[in-house]
Amino acid sequence: MSSQEIILEVNNLQTSFNTDAGEVRAVDGVSFKVPKGKTLGIVGESGSGKSITSLSILRLLAKNGSIKGGEVLYKGQDLLKLTEAQMRKLRGNEISMIFQEPMTSLNPVYTVGQQIGEALKLHQNMSKKQAHDRSVELLKLVGIPSPEKRVKNFPFELSGGMRQRVMIAMSLACDPEILIADEPTTALDVTIQAQILELIKELQDRLGMSVVFITHDLGVVAETCDYVAVMYAGQVVEYADIRSLFHEPKLPYTIGLLNSLPRHDIDQEKLEPIEGNVPSPYNIPTGCRFAPRCPAATDLCRAKMPALEPDEKGNQVRCWIYSEEWDGEAEVEIYGETRIAKGRGSKTVLSD
Ligand SMILES: Nc1ncnc2c1ncn2[C@@H]1O[C@H](COP(=O)(O)OP(=O)(O)O)[C@@H](O)[C@H]1O
Ligand SMILES: [Mg+2]
Repeated sequence: MSSQEIILEVNNLQTSFNTDAGEVRAVDGVSFKVPKGKTLGIVGESGSGKSITSLSILRLLAKNGSIKGGEVLYKGQDLLKLTEAQMRKLRGNEISMIFQEPMTSLNPVYTVGQQIGEALKLHQNMSKKQAHDRSVELLKLVGIPSPEKRVKNFPFELSGGMRQRVMIAMSLACDPEILIADEPTTALDVTIQAQILELIKELQDRLGMSVVFITHDLGVVAETCDYVAVMYAGQVVEYADIRSLFHEPKLPYTIGLLNSLPRHDIDQEKLEPIEGNVPSPYNIPTGCRFAPRCPAATDLCRAKMPALEPDEKGNQVRCWIYSEEWDGEAEVEIYGETRIAKGRGSKTVLSD
């Protein structure tokens, strides 16, 4: 990991909203790295802060939201320190985003070609004719049949899958360095989902961009990502390369998520979804936010929040078992299995 160029690095990001019920800390300790040309998956239950993390990176928060702390380093430069004019140049051009809801992010009164062309005219100084030709080319690139005809269509004339392809074409218009895709397939049926994922991967290989892929589906992560950040209640709780995450998950929460994945090789009755719910951002636990649901939680976990600690591979975990304050050997009961946690700090290993 250290030999790779890091194109995007987020450090301890904190984003809050002002509401009638007080301050909501929607993102409160998000850190991860995206190596150039690779895909980072951000995975977490609904409400864990995935969308707010991506909107914070592009500084596109609702009026009542603000970034309270942290860094968003793009090619080493902190985006949180740029002026709004500098951010406008960067959005869509260097970092672009596919939003969760395709219908609300396409403008119903403009044709597909006009909407793709807008970005091209703005960022690339293209003429009308050049923008039209490039729009057709982009529609073709994302696999839309008869692109010369489709470029004249309005969004309502397209199916959900086609609209999502148009969104992807728009996001690729200016050859971005980073594509952030926020649950780009949740609104689509399963076969179209697979096609869209395949398309994003293929375009990434061809164009060499880095991708931040947001999803609540670990199965999708396994198929598409090189690195994973697991989010829980506004925080990154485990960050790892894909192999480590699936083969040696460290956090009891991650182990629980993996246990609840549907599998073909085991008896379905043994599936163990994690009991309980993500805490409400209006009522965050004092210690580790997962402690109320964690099968291995101790008094320390309930009293004090653990920090995100790196190991020698550059993977990170937020859990007392892997901290320097954890000492020696102990039995932990994780989802019905007794395992031995042995060692100190990042050297702690869980027995099988
Ligand atoms: N404009 C807002 N005002 C108040 N709270 C908000 C606002 N937008 C998002 N939130 C809260 O931030 C938290 C994280 O939301 P979000 O990032 O959308 O979750 P995810 O994408 O992981 O499902 C949620 O609890 C949500 O209610
Ligand atoms: Mg979301």
